[in-house]
Amino acid sequence: MANKGAWLNNKTVVVTGASGGLGAGLAEKLIKEHNCYVIGIARSEAKMKKFVEKLGSYADHFDYRLFDVSIKENWENFAAEMKASGKVPSVLINNAGILPKFKRTDRYTQEEIDQAMNINFFSIVYATQVMLPVLLTQNDPAIINVASSASLMTLAGTSFYSASKAALRTYTEALRYEFRGKCYFSVVCPGFTATDIMRDQAGSSNTMKIVSMVSTSCETMVDWIFKGIENKKPMMVRGFDAWAMDIFARLFPVFGSTLFSTVMKVANVDIFQDVFKD
Ligand SMILES: NC(=O)c1ccc[n+]([C@@H]2O[C@H](COP(=O)([O-])OP(=O)(O)OC[C@H]3O[C@@H](n4cnc5c(N)ncnc54)[C@H](OP(=O)(O)O)[C@@H]3O)[C@@H](O)[C@H]2O)c1
Repeated sequence: MANKGAWLNNKTVVVTGASGGLGAGLAEKLIKEHNCYVIGIARSEAKMKKFVEKLGSYADHFDYRLFDVSIKENWENFAAEMKASGKVPSVLINNAGILPKFKRTDRYTQEEIDQAMNINFFSIVYATQVMLPVLLTQNDPAIINVASSASLMTLAGTSFYSASKAALRTYTEALRYEFRGKCYFSVVCPGFTATDIMRDQAGSSNTMKIVSMVSTSCETMVDWIFKGIENKKPMMVRGFDAWAMDIFARLFPVFGSTLFSTVMKVANVDIFQDVFKD
């Protein structure tokens, strides 16, 4: 078992969005490198079963629950079940999230707006309200929230995604101070990462090739985030695009957003057609 990040050893950890992408990568490392018992949460059983299969002989360190994290009652039922079963977690990784289709702000339906805010932000408010009192009964509790580089700088076509992730980042920053010394809070801001998150963008194969060329691989991003968690980093900006956005957002907040949005416009790719047409 790894000495580095020993605070994670043998912990019971809840990971939302553990059926694929970053969540599955983090869950796997927690199990294999720190002998954690992970309870994964997502909605699709088929994806979860694939992940369990991938775990092979480690599958006995993993269990899952299928529910929508954006419904508070689901968290209340989950917490009650955990208490009754005696499997009380001490770490929660709020990773589940969605990337709405890129659109100009006035083209989103109310349903799309609600979905982005509910899944990417309010789900974590509910999870924290319900789970934090439970985590605080354990040794060395922690909540790690996966936001995005989009929380640092808003680009054209990402209004509600950025708003939901900026809300999550700032919410986590308040918790970090309010519970310092009682619970480790961290916010993660990854840049573009090659996972399935782009599936709703309906881009051509050429566009998707370009996107994957500018993305960090999922394995590398998981490694970077995992190292940060092991070292209890309070904030992680990860990925070359995320670092660039962070620097520009600090030094040139208006020019930076204009520059990056203009690059997207000039790239003239189909995934941005609902952003820049007319
Ligand atoms: N990939 C990137 O470029 C990137 C960049 C910055 C930040 N992020 C953030 O990183 C996190 C993980 O993203 P990813 O790239 O790994 O995406 P992904 O491959 O699409 O995985 C998302 C996970 O979240 C689950 N999920 C989504 N909505 C849910 C809901 N309402 N209730 C429960 N589970 C839900 C999905 O499972 P089900 O569909 O089965 O529910 C899936 O397991 C997200 O918060 C995302 O915003 C990603």
